[in-house]
Amino acid sequence: MTIAVLSEVATGAEDLSIWPASTRRLPHGGLAVGGVSLAEVADRFETPAYVLDEGEVRGRCRTYRDAFPDADVLYAAKAFLSRAMVRWVREEGLGLDVCSAGELELAVTAGFPPERIVLHGNAKSPRDLEAALRLGIGRIVIDGPSEIARIAAAVGPEGHQRVMVRVVPGVSAGGHDKIRTGTDDQKFGLSLTDGAAQHAVARILGQPQLELTGLHCHIGSQITEVKPYLVALRRMVGLMARIRDTHGVVLPELDMGGGHGIAYRPGEPALDLTALARRLRAELVAGCAAARLTVPRLLVEPGRAVVGPAGVALYRVLAVKHTGEKVFVAVDGGMSDNPRPALYGVRYAPRLIGRVPTAGPRTTTVVGRHCEAGDILASDAELPGDIHPGDLLAVPVAGAYQLSMASGYNLVGRPAVVAVHEGAARVLVRRETLDDFRSRDIGD
Ligand code: LLP
Repeated sequence: MTIAVLSEVATGAEDLSIWPASTRRLPHGGLAVGGVSLAEVADRFETPAYVLDEGEVRGRCRTYRDAFPDADVLYAAKAFLSRAMVRWVREEGLGLDVCSAGELELAVTAGFPPERIVLHGNAKSPRDLEAALRLGIGRIVIDGPSEIARIAAAVGPEGHQRVMVRVVPGVSAGGHDKIRTGTDDQKFGLSLTDGAAQHAVARILGQPQLELTGLHCHIGSQITEVKPYLVALRRMVGLMARIRDTHGVVLPELDMGGGHGIAYRPGEPALDLTALARRLRAELVAGCAAARLTVPRLLVEPGRAVVGPAGVALYRVLAVKHTGEKVFVAVDGGMSDNPRPALYGVRYAPRLIGRVPTAGPRTTTVVGRHCEAGDILASDAELPGDIHPGDLLAVPVAGAYQLSMASGYNLVGRPAVVAVHEGAARVLVRRETLDDFRSRDIGD
């Protein structure tokens, strides 16, 4: 077998379906995203680095706008937020879903219109509510009974705030136990089954300074089927009809949350957005007609599906170890920049970049540099047998819930975020340094 053929097999380069659409193969085992060679990004900005393809983020925002022309699409900031991300989402016509004063203030100070922002959270702090009211946030989503009086008091008798109610529709969906939020055995929302949601609605309607614009639900994350959304929507429409019957109030909005699943490895299923949009709309129209209800405006809140596939993590190999049957390839990042494999058992598909391998593929465990055995980035990865220190690994689908959940473990420091677009690379968020740690550490 020639080296060239070997390299194709060894790198698994044939299937780029989970990579950003701008991804191109370069000579000598290279890969370019957004017109920029990933190996060059690694050399110029060092590793670990997170590369974000601006065109891919914008393209995904447009896909949502096209698929949901009659709905409001709110990007869920928890997946990843930076000032550039705020600008891209704003320019592409999306709204924003935030869940803390931090996310909210970053967005508004970066120029995002507060009326297009929705605040979530099962435990909103005084600071969250203060920021939301001060900045004039569009809607606050009420997550529990105790929030009603709190928000009403904070708004004051002369004030006015639009709110929604987060309902738990009793639908189980999501890629992992920790990210299923549609049933009553978890901390979010107000139950539809035990009457808590209806009760909260009645109390909110009794608060003149709170304007209830609609109902919200978010049944889980990394959902790859349309059906659970349809079941949830049917139940939400049923509740809207009951609210109309009981209180004579027709709520104008229905927020079906996010959770749209993506593929992390070639061949994995992803949620079909066009099918989701079409079938949600059809179900909504039919359900409302049957209940003789005015069709509410639909809202959706995707996070992962907007930014996940636009990100690529770059690591440098530091060590290779053969232990028993296993080959461990250790890189210069790990669970401090990506805790997802440790938390949810997610599997990624890393790829060697920047050189042509001279050996065929073998099953490899890619581990991080942190001080625990669970610091695994990719188990059962097919990587060339000649991987050695100094090699570069790129991990696609790294844009969502990696850096936003990054930690300061071992004071390794969070990686830089580098945007690539039309052949140019620029730093969006600089690497965390020892000076950053020292400047926060003000006692002795
Ligand atoms: N709306 C609400 C109210 C949410 O709680 C979430 C995510 C979203 C929208 C966006 O969901 P997405 O479209 O991104 O799936 N850390 C986990 C995911 C946690 C999701 C939390 N809520 C992970 O890495 O998979």
